[in-house]
Amino acid sequence: MNPLNHVAIIMDGNGRWGLKYKKSRNEGHKEGLITIEKIIKETIKQKIKYLTLYAFSTENWNRPKKEINYLFNLLESFLINRISEFNNQNIKLKVIGTKNFTPKFNKLLILVEKKTLKNTKLQINLALNYGSKSELTIAFKNLQKNKEKISEKNITKYLYTKNIPDPDLLIRTGSENRLSNFLLWQSAYTELFFSKKYWPDFKDEDLCEAIYDFQNRDRRFGRVKD
Ligand code: IPE
Ligand code: IPE
Ligand code: MG
Repeated sequence: MNPLNHVAIIMDGNGRWGLKYKKSRNEGHKEGLITIEKIIKETIKQKIKYLTLYAFSTENWNRPKKEINYLFNLLESFLINRISEFNNQNIKLKVIGTKNFTPKFNKLLILVEKKTLKNTKLQINLALNYGSKSELTIAFKNLQKNKEKISEKNITKYLYTKNIPDPDLLIRTGSENRLSNFLLWQSAYTELFFSKKYWPDFKDEDLCEAIYDFQNRDRRFGRVKD
């Protein structure tokens, strides 16, 4: 059975769910938060140490302003309401992506990171304004600036995911079979699982199904079977 330390999720399908059931994309984003809560609980139950959630990509800025505002308001109240809960549950929150939001939102993110820094049960990496191409470009610029050798070790050092092990399993909901600029470097050997369900319909048992599937895969890392 493969050990599972880190699960990364592309939480896709909120908009389509919202349109289908409530005639509004934003209602899908709201419902998606309930799934986040359920999946966090199940992740803890499964003794997984890292959960990375793709919440907003660098490309998502191309969406209508109204949807972007709705999403960030939702995220803001989620984080404000959750700080003490995260601490009660021993959850550490880290943001991956460039924090160039409003000063108020940037401050909130820094505060949540600081207040949960010492927690050890589960680390949630919230990918916000995250894009792999931007992440790698920033890493190369840092190497150049500091006149450091280009090596895999040095590149990794300048990624947002520095000190975080690579994901073992990457799940994408919403029935699209692509990575959409998510963890391209880090998922070089990650097992991929695509679910047809929209994110608001994704349940703890769906996570268990993905985990079971993962555990029974043959991870060879380029070697041959002995
Ligand atoms: C994913 O759901 C959440 C974000 C990108 C913020 P979408 O909003 O992409 O939902 P669909 O793919 O349009 O259904
Ligand atoms: C990926 O979903 C980003 C997040 C889930 C945050 P998108 O809906 O933005 O991706 P595409 O446009 O279908 O590739
Ligand atoms: Mg989508």
